[in-house]
Amino acid sequence: MQFSTLLLTALASVASAQRTWVVTVAQNGSLTYSPNKITAAPGEFVQFQFLAGNHTVTQSTFDKPCQPVAMHSNATGFHSGFQPVAASASMGMVPTYTIQINNTNPLWLYCAQGRHCENGMVMVINEPATNPNRTLENYKALAAGAQTVLPGNATVGGGTSGTVDTPTGTTPGGDAASSSPAAAGAGMLSAPAIFTLLSAGAAAALFL
Ligand SMILES: *[C@@H]1O[C@H](CO)[C@@H](O)[C@H](O)[C@H]1NC(C)=O
Ligand SMILES: *[C@@H]1O[C@H](CO)[C@@H](O)[C@H](O)[C@H]1NC(C)=O
Ligand SMILES: *[C@@H]1O[C@H](CO)[C@@H](O)[C@H](O)[C@H]1NC(C)=O
Ligand SMILES: *[C@@H]1O[C@H](CO)[C@@H](O)[C@H](O)[C@H]1NC(C)=O
Ligand SMILES: *[C@@H]1O[C@H](CO)[C@@H](O)[C@H](O)[C@H]1NC(C)=O
Ligand SMILES: *[C@@H]1O[C@H](CO)[C@@H](O)[C@H](O)[C@H]1NC(C)=O
Repeated sequence: MQFSTLLLTALASVASAQRTWVVTVAQNGSLTYSPNKITAAPGEFVQFQFLAGNHTVTQSTFDKPCQPVAMHSNATGFHSGFQPVAASASMGMVPTYTIQINNTNPLWLYCAQGRHCENGMVMVINEPATNPNRTLENYKALAAGAQTVLPGNATVGGGTSGTVDTPTGTTPGGDAASSSPAAAGAGMLSAPAIFTLLSAGAAAALFL
């Protein structure tokens, strides 16, 4: 475990060069992503911190909200899977899911739990500037009349799951790279081999 701790520390310092945007999920138990509109540059990370309940962050197309993007396009997209907070909370940890932004294409996102998407639990990364109809407001309006489809396991992936002990939700959308090494480090844990070393217990020890 010593070795993996050293490795993670090394990765975290590398990661501090890359900006990580923090989006809190279900702040105050609400059906929200906060902030729900961010602009992120290629290479940057977006880390979702699940604060309550049992939610997902799942990619759809603009035209078909609440349905996995793979159903309506050739993109695989990403899906965090369900992130029940209670189990981690009892260990003082918060589940996270971190994606890397590869380009400036818009990413339309929803929660696949129950009717959360229909009820407005949606967000956008890189809302397009060139098409005035493709706004978060219009996406939310379409979602209100949609029907949630659960992604199968095939679309789980595209991001990295983890935990942090100190949610940085007090500065939503803030620059986690400078304020929270733990958050930025989690963003860099993209190698599954490394990540499996980071059991919840090890994570707790590491971030004490
Ligand atoms: C959560 O509660 C705090 C304090 O009342 C408030 O400032 C914040 O806007 C709330 N967040 C959301 C997403 O509603
Ligand atoms: C998606 O795949 C289909 C079938 O392979 C193809 O006809 C279509 O052109 C592709 N669309 C895009 C946007 O690449
Ligand atoms: C989270 O929600 C999913 C989908 O509704 C459900 O299958 C799963 O059992 C829930 N997990 C917990 C711990 O409640
Ligand atoms: C925007 O929506 C309006 C009303 O549905 C439509 O008439 C218009 O063509 C759309 N504009 C674009 C750029 O898609
Ligand atoms: C999910 O993955 C498991 C294990 O790989 C597989 O047995 C199961 O059939 C998959 N379920 C769906 C809905 O694809
Ligand atoms: C960025 O590219 C990586 C590697 O191809 C992929 O795993 C990831 O899902 C992509 N990110 C997004 C947001 O699609």
